[in-house]
Amino acid sequence: MLVTLSEALKKACKGRYAVGAFNVNNLEAIQAVMDASEAERSPVILSTSEGAIQYAGMEELGLLARLAAARTKVPVVFHLDHGKDVALIETAIKSGLYTSVMFDGSSLPFEENVKATSRLVKLAHKHGVSLEAELGAIAGIEDFVSVEAKDAHLTQPSQATTFVRRTGCDALAIAVGTSHGAYKFKKASELDFPRLKALAEAVNVPLVLHGASSVPSWVKSLCTKFGCEIAGAKGVSEAHVKKAVGLGVCKVNVDTDLRIAFDAGIRKFLATHPQVIDPREILAPAKALMTRVVRQKMRLLGSSGKG
Ligand code: G3H
Ligand code: 13P
Ligand code: ZN
Repeated sequence: MLVTLSEALKKACKGRYAVGAFNVNNLEAIQAVMDASEAERSPVILSTSEGAIQYAGMEELGLLARLAAARTKVPVVFHLDHGKDVALIETAIKSGLYTSVMFDGSSLPFEENVKATSRLVKLAHKHGVSLEAELGAIAGIEDFVSVEAKDAHLTQPSQATTFVRRTGCDALAIAVGTSHGAYKFKKASELDFPRLKALAEAVNVPLVLHGASSVPSWVKSLCTKFGCEIAGAKGVSEAHVKKAVGLGVCKVNVDTDLRIAFDAGIRKFLATHPQVIDPREILAPAKALMTRVVRQKMRLLGSSGKG
């Protein structure tokens, strides 16, 4: 069942769980995520980045996602992740495919971010689409050399209150120390929880945690065992993801963990089945591993059984 981001997140925030937003680039990823969603009876967000659209096509991904949503009773959001190209966001809003878009104006000065976000919120709402906005630079805490630098880049609660009130956005992506990709921390997983708590109190729309992959050790080991060179990869600890949800995060974005699972599945299969050339046989275990990772994530976020 296709739903908007607002509908899915309203329930999640009320029920104190988070909905996972999983990045998908192809048929196999959509199938893997939907298999997990069905098995867990969990609401789900199928996220497509601008890169995913470049790779596979907006209509191609949209039609696959909408078909999957039409075939299930679990709530499915079809979402544009990190939209920066305003023309592309407008196309997505008007396409009739997306039920949610993100405008990532985080690199803009505050006033410009407010202006562009407000305009897109109005357009999105006119078409029955939700809009997620972003304030603050999503970057690891270790990247900051001083308390001042950290405060300038991570989301400031008082600014977030103003931003949400002035833009009318439906959800807010916040910067509290997570970063994108497989190398988030050199030392231990570290988030700014006091800031997250203050943001949850300051903002009256659902909060979104980007860069939330955990790089689970079992997937990393499998991947590296079969030749992947990601020894230094480190994600947000599962305990920290859970704590963030407990403090009010209602949408959690995951891409890297799916990438590693897909990679591990393909590497293992090819290394152990050198005679196989059928892509369906090669991709099946990769898909199964992604499903396993997504199911674990849904349980961690507390969304299992909520669909
Ligand atoms: O936050 C970004 C996601 O991980 C998507 O990555 O732009 O390479 O598709 P991508
Ligand atoms: P990860 O790189 O931690 O998976 O983050 C993905 C993300 O935030 C997509 O928007
Ligand atoms: Zn992100």
